[in-house]
Amino acid sequence: MPVLRNISQLASCPANTAQSDAGLISNAALAWDGDTIQWVGPFPELPDRYRKGKAIDCGRKLVIPGLIDCHTHLCFGGWRADEFELRLQGAGYQEIAAAGGGIASTVAATRGASLGELQRKAEQVLDGMLSLGVTTVECKSGYGLDEANELKQLEVYRRLHETHRVDLVSTFLGAHIVPPEYQADRNRYISLLCDVLIPRVASLGLARFCDAFVEEGAYTIEEARKILSTATAHQLGIKVHADQLSNGGGALLAAELGAVSAEHLEYICDDGIQALSKAGTVAVSLPLASLYLDEPYLPARKLLDSGVPVAVASDFNPGSAPSFHLPLAMTLACLQQGMTPQESLKGATTIAAQAISEQTRIGSLLPGFQADFAIIDAPSLNHWLYHFQANGCHAVMKRGEWV
Ligand code: NIG
Ligand code: FE
Repeated sequence: MPVLRNISQLASCPANTAQSDAGLISNAALAWDGDTIQWVGPFPELPDRYRKGKAIDCGRKLVIPGLIDCHTHLCFGGWRADEFELRLQGAGYQEIAAAGGGIASTVAATRGASLGELQRKAEQVLDGMLSLGVTTVECKSGYGLDEANELKQLEVYRRLHETHRVDLVSTFLGAHIVPPEYQADRNRYISLLCDVLIPRVASLGLARFCDAFVEEGAYTIEEARKILSTATAHQLGIKVHADQLSNGGGALLAAELGAVSAEHLEYICDDGIQALSKAGTVAVSLPLASLYLDEPYLPARKLLDSGVPVAVASDFNPGSAPSFHLPLAMTLACLQQGMTPQESLKGATTIAAQAISEQTRIGSLLPGFQADFAIIDAPSLNHWLYHFQANGCHAVMKRGEWV
């Protein structure tokens, strides 16, 4: 049984302690068997039976659970670099969308791309994510917005989950925007979602969750309630893109529907925070989207102090967050959201696992959990998140195998 020793600091990230407690252990050791962790603790306490195992020297580095990016739009055609320049010149994200750019332009590019092209492009992104220490990724559809193209995106995810070392968890986001061809009759598209697409995605097992974008120019509260309630009836878990660009009551809806997560929340109100706290819904913070759109950051301190767990994710997509650098998002969560390094790390591991209902299997380094971890080239968690490097990840273990 292999044992990793000489670990300067290990973050075990237990689920049953406060988010501020990442379970840091100095001079640690970690033993695993096959794809399952067997023992974690201070090296002097390593039981004799593990001392006989193959010893691997960690070189006084930091060990963390494999990172979980619990909010991405991984699969899309094209990019939107022109919009980046337009926004730098002062154009607003909503203004660009209203002029036919934004999400609608990525829908056109995604519809025009073959399944193979989309798969190869997403695969390269996954390679990049894995090299940063990310071992599980939630990925949303929502750039197809018709039956063939939503299924195409979800099929890309199904195939990549089978073939890539990173594990994928899919979310159906058919309610991203109303596609251009249904603008004159949005109810017809909502009927298509509720009567055809959600039942089909659920029966094919192509997604675990259903998400809806509640915002001006996207979906109203009433529309999202109908769509997400239909998803619940088909045994899909619920997520909501809520209160991103304005306070539209999305967090209240997420709480009302018992959503597993409410995501974005840049404009969440105090009622929304109380509602999430009561409902036990995870808040997913997306600091890269705030950075790129020059929008406020989610009020992490208020959420945490009200008992709402706060995950940290990349929101990787071609518009509002064209970077998949989750460690950068974690450093921003500290600098801009007032989160401590321990809160930020748990946000991208334990709490991220909770946001995809996988907290009993991944996100912690404890006996019985999957052997997914990263060795980080830093002596401590504080050092890693403060001394930001292009890539501080030294090595990755996925399901008990070095990547
Ligand atoms: O999470 N807000 C909606 N969806 C994405 C942006 C998608 C896009 O701009 O293409 C987000 O920010
Ligand atoms: Fe998003």
